[in-house]
Amino acid sequence: MILILIKALPRLYLSKQILRNQQQQWGECYKCWEYQKWLNSCVHVAASSCFSSSYTSMNINKVLVADAVDQACVDLLKNNLIDVDCKYKLSKEQLIQEIQNYDGLIVRSDTKVTAEVIEAAKNLKVIGRAGAGVDNIDVDAATKKNIVVLNTPGGNAISACELTCTLITSLARNVVPAAASLREGRWDRKLYAGHEIHGKVLGIVGLGRIGREVAIRLQAWGMKTVGYDPIVSAEDAAKFNVEFLELEKIWPIADYITLHTPLIPETRNMINKKVFNQAKKGLRIVNVARGGIIDEAALLEALENGQCGGAALDVYEQEPPTNPTTLKLIQHPKVVATPHLGASTSEAQIRVAVEVAEQFVALSGKNPKYTNAPGVINPNVLNAKK
Ligand SMILES: NC(=O)c1ccc[n+]([C@@H]2O[C@H](COP(=O)([O-])OP(=O)(O)OC[C@H]3O[C@@H](n4cnc5c(N)ncnc54)[C@H](O)[C@@H]3O)[C@@H](O)[C@H]2O)c1
Repeated sequence: MILILIKALPRLYLSKQILRNQQQQWGECYKCWEYQKWLNSCVHVAASSCFSSSYTSMNINKVLVADAVDQACVDLLKNNLIDVDCKYKLSKEQLIQEIQNYDGLIVRSDTKVTAEVIEAAKNLKVIGRAGAGVDNIDVDAATKKNIVVLNTPGGNAISACELTCTLITSLARNVVPAAASLREGRWDRKLYAGHEIHGKVLGIVGLGRIGREVAIRLQAWGMKTVGYDPIVSAEDAAKFNVEFLELEKIWPIADYITLHTPLIPETRNMINKKVFNQAKKGLRIVNVARGGIIDEAALLEALENGQCGGAALDVYEQEPPTNPTTLKLIQHPKVVATPHLGASTSEAQIRVAVEVAEQFVALSGKNPKYTNAPGVINPNVLNAKK
């Protein structure tokens, strides 16, 4: 116990420091719940490591897997004496019925774990998302019922980073429209001449797991990397060769901007008309983070008036998109659009499947090999169970 406390103290201190710095920088807004949720996920590594081995084990004996996750998840749970049922594409009514029989629920993106579903659950102790973010889970409702919510934030970082780099280089060389034109039988060599990214300025907004991996890779292509993140210092950014600049200083100098923040009130519509007006003419922008960070109407206008020279989008305000502005963007000749593929690699799918199962086993206390639940979003629930 003493050893656990000694190990936990520096991490607790770190969590508190991050919180304090944030409170100073963000003023009153830290009180809002959205921000708290984001902050919790930021400090989850520090916080949940403190809880590891010291929280009370939960009775997790039966788990429902409601979206297709890699078999590695099911195998790991079963090998640790947890029963698993896989039932996909349940209607809301079916899920409400089924959830009453389970201690744990695992989803990806398809299943919406609403307050109604959570309310119907009698024994549910933990909801896990095999992926980064918990947009499809009502965390408030779960927290009120003392249900732990967790995700696997690191599992798909490399995949999301690699898609970002692919999109940046594709934009520079017009790969997507040129390939489509050739497929249609044309030979338009002049029309699709591109430019080098060597020597260009890449502005990285959000220097977390994915943002810094993107920086490291594109430096190898000769890009100059500048970036901003409210919880990263200039000294830390310099360690991975990113020049730390305030956002207002990034907009006018960046040839490319890539977004790697969560969607929180402070980042919603962060890239808007004002930003496009301040930006270098012909700026190219990439969003593999979350829909809603770019104001889509402003982007469309900037593409049409030439202020924005191209955009690559993997995420949208609404998914799948049906609203006319998003559909126009997807059809726009200067846009490369992918259907939320950031985490869609075989490697990431196995990684997130294993990570979510490991955390369930850790919380169940069934195997001393697994003691960490680093993806817990609402660690206060774990605290309450101590
Ligand atoms: N397209 C996909 O399939 C896919 C896959 C994985 C992750 N993602 C998304 O990518 C984003 C980044 O993921 P990550 O794993 O790097 O997250 P992370 O938590 O490691 O990093 C996010 C960073 O954004 C910073 N940030 C918060 N507010 C900011 C602001 N106003 N300005 C600048 N920076 C700000 C945070 O301080 C943090 O360091 C998330 O939104 C995640 O959901 C998408």
